[in-house]
Amino acid sequence: MEENLSHKMDLDKINIHAEPPAEEPVRQYYYMAKCREWVQAFEQKNGRRPCFCIQTFGCQMNARDSEKLAGILARIGFVSQDHEEADLVLYNTCTVRDNANQRVYGRLGYVHSLKKKNPAMLIGLCGCMMQEETVIQKLKESYRFVDLVFGTHNIYKLAELLYARFSGETAVFDIEKENTRIVEALPVTRKYPYKSGVNIMYGCNNFCSYCIVPYVRGRERSRRPEEILDEIRALADDGVVEIMLLGQNVNSYGKTLSEPISFAALLRQVEQIDKIKRIRFMTSHPKDLSDELIETMRRSQKICRHLHLPLQSGSSRILKCMNRRYDQEQYLALAEKIRRNIPDISLTTDIIVGFPGETEEDFKETLKVVQKVRYESAFTFLYSKRTGTPAAAMEDQVPKEVAQDRFDRLLALIQQISRECCGRDTGRVMEALVEETNNQQEGFVTGRLSNNIMVHFPGPSDLVGRIVPVRLLEPRGFYYMGRMEEQ
Ligand code: 5AD
Ligand code: SF4
Repeated sequence: MEENLSHKMDLDKINIHAEPPAEEPVRQYYYMAKCREWVQAFEQKNGRRPCFCIQTFGCQMNARDSEKLAGILARIGFVSQDHEEADLVLYNTCTVRDNANQRVYGRLGYVHSLKKKNPAMLIGLCGCMMQEETVIQKLKESYRFVDLVFGTHNIYKLAELLYARFSGETAVFDIEKENTRIVEALPVTRKYPYKSGVNIMYGCNNFCSYCIVPYVRGRERSRRPEEILDEIRALADDGVVEIMLLGQNVNSYGKTLSEPISFAALLRQVEQIDKIKRIRFMTSHPKDLSDELIETMRRSQKICRHLHLPLQSGSSRILKCMNRRYDQEQYLALAEKIRRNIPDISLTTDIIVGFPGETEEDFKETLKVVQKVRYESAFTFLYSKRTGTPAAAMEDQVPKEVAQDRFDRLLALIQQISRECCGRDTGRVMEALVEETNNQQEGFVTGRLSNNIMVHFPGPSDLVGRIVPVRLLEPRGFYYMGRMEEQ
């Protein structure tokens, strides 16, 4: 599904024999028209249109970026397909932890074998991993079959880069160090008709000592509220009922705009858009979470009852080494204030185990916070050393077995608490946005509650995309089984 955003440019009206325009986004529409010529030639030769497959790693930001890449390719005339035997395979990579990188190298080995059978196949790489110089070197030396490489700051340029490849450049590498501009109004193909992510800001200025994101996504930049609201209105007109506002640190949204605005104020404006029924956001940094935001959530009918509040560690000493700029006491006070003001909220978190210098005592502090906050669910990660970050140079890296043992103990505690939390609303009727038909159980659909917990219940497939009342009958650990109620 292609979003009908403000600039629906007609590719037929573009003079592809003229010089490329300098300004964006028209320059990209010009290159889309040029690439379309290539697609038409492909179609004449092969009797079918070329197909593409995008594999996305990492977070919601990357998922949204992939929708933009898919939008450009669809506009050029490529057809989407979900397996890697395609004419163009694009990996949108993540580098937050080393295992994300390793998975990409694994996939590259696999597509290389496909390319040996089909030499015309094009292989592209983009996203966070490509912002690392060591990765680029490795690709240039050992992965010479890759055709197209670009980073996080220039995904809008896909058509231009693809055209360079079509015009004979053997391997196109285009990485920008910093994001100097935000290009609006390019085509987007959404994965879901009824829900969408919306970027409200890019980059990150926090420099947590373990984290590579500020180096690969650049400095923090907020989009202007009018642009965000226009995009959401267009999405709403196109059938979207739930949006997720995306940023590395949404709580610092708007502070650097020429006319500063708070994140809570932005939320209140989004709430005015009639056809939007649910609003989510990701991610909140505890140090910037304001009372104004809590109050805005408390009063809101649309902002979902879910807050993802990364803890990272429960030990104040480790938090200091992590450069998180809050301590255990402040975090616990914040969690308590949120639960007091919004009693039906569900709190989730991210925790890193095995940060350099973490002792058993530090780890017990993490367990203590988990026990006190009682997260509905939590993502736990083994610390992964990222080259170039301050933590990579710290002494006392924790031995693997010690970190793994702590990880297992933490996970067991989190799962036990999640199970207890999930039963809390048994018997109640709650609204669920139906997201898909259930592929495990014939005749069932799966919905998401405002608090982000899933519920499976019998229902026809045409419920997908609708918000319906569901009675929660039976908790099953992390989800419920339910029954749809009369509306
Ligand atoms: N090692 C392990 N986990 C990390 N994260 C970020 N960087 C690292 C790292 N070097 C985790 C954090 C963050 C989540 C997206 O990934 O918990 O919140
Ligand atoms: Fe991975 Fe971070 Fe990039 Fe998201 S922003 S894809 S988590 S490195």
